[in-house]
Amino acid sequence: PKGGKLLILPGDHIGPEVVSEALKVLDIIEEATGAKFERDFDLCGGASLDKHKDSVTEAVLQKSVEVDAVFFGSAGGPEWGHSQPNPESGLLRIRHKMQIFANLRPCNFASKSLIHRSPIKPEIISGVDFTIIRENCGGAYYGSKVEEEDYGCDPWEYRRSEIERVVRVAGALAMQHDPPLPVWSVDKANVLANSRVWRRITHEIFEKEFPKVNIRDQLADSLAMLLITKPTAFNGLIVTDNTFGDILSDESGGLTGSLGLLPSASLAGPPAARGAEPGLGRNSVGGVVGLYEPVHGSAPDISGKGLANPVGQVLSLAMMLRYSFNMNHEAEVVEQAVAKVLDSKADGGLEVRTGDLGGKAGTAEMSEAIQREVRRLLKA
Ligand code: NAD
Ligand code: IPM
Ligand code: MN
Repeated sequence: PKGGKLLILPGDHIGPEVVSEALKVLDIIEEATGAKFERDFDLCGGASLDKHKDSVTEAVLQKSVEVDAVFFGSAGGPEWGHSQPNPESGLLRIRHKMQIFANLRPCNFASKSLIHRSPIKPEIISGVDFTIIRENCGGAYYGSKVEEEDYGCDPWEYRRSEIERVVRVAGALAMQHDPPLPVWSVDKANVLANSRVWRRITHEIFEKEFPKVNIRDQLADSLAMLLITKPTAFNGLIVTDNTFGDILSDESGGLTGSLGLLPSASLAGPPAARGAEPGLGRNSVGGVVGLYEPVHGSAPDISGKGLANPVGQVLSLAMMLRYSFNMNHEAEVVEQAVAKVLDSKADGGLEVRTGDLGGKAGTAEMSEAIQREVRRLLKA
């Protein structure tokens, strides 16, 4: 019996708007396959602040480690600008509680028809296909912060165990390909002590455990530039610290033309090659414990108008099916459906695209087109 238990945290602004659309895709998959996903809806971010005066409650934190996967929208908005804690801290506390230390953020074109939407020349951006593996539970985001009237401090630290576990995910993902995908380890080892430790330990792990993988170092600042001038040179995997990964993954949104397209998966262990073997961070159905959310935020500037692009959230659902529920076929169906809808103009059909992609469709129209394709592909 496929499926499992989900905790669904739609969050704020466009979060609930795109989460509800992605869940319609899940409904269709349940109907077609007999899989059953138990769904528990709760609050995180500003929505939780309003009701509980906290960005996430202990009860929700506890539930996050009892389910098979968490499906997350986005948290934050200007109306909670001065609140303590802020809405975003709810998400950070869930990531830490779940110990989902490897945040996978793929950057590629969901459809070839989008290449001309990129601000980068087609001959430079065409074929771009890399995945950022962002350390997700440490670095400057966590540790003992100090916030005073005239002084603020975020200790930026990494321990061996934190580095080893995330670079092992990069190694394991690289080895799922033949030949193995190349890996870039991205840091600021020319300046930061924690980066020098990161670099040394990363090479130790790759030499010992993944000798067949081509691992290279790249400084984070020059990578930010090279991703614009030579993006395809980094096709493969980029493993990096929490802060660098956050910034570089928004840059991915710039490269592909819209942040609204990009999904992410935050995993508590390496993805299983073939499902059910026991291992680090496994859930009750033999998948990986994970939280799935788009790269984009709550987009308060467009919320409440039905304008948000649902693709990032829908593709996050596909990643959830793949990594947490071993439903690779259904994940591919969802990805193909998205590509097909984005290509619809090429087929002589109507252009079904949201405003961020230069189209006139709303969230619902784009989502319905994706749902139709998913239904069709599952029947075929
Ligand atoms: P944002 O990602 O919300 O928006 C940046 C720009 O991209 C905006 O112009 C927005 O309209 C556009 N955009 C984003 N998603 C889109 C979509 N699906 N369809 C169409 N356009 C889309 O970043 P921001 O404006 O800097 O942040 C807004 C709030 O979201 C802040 O409170 C921030 O902290 C929060 N945030 C939350 C998450 C999360 O919960 N994972 C991630 C990033 C930002
Ligand atoms: C993201 C967001 C979050 C982060 C914020 C909202 C805490 O920007 O998921 O990329 O910085 O990790
Ligand atoms: Mn971010």
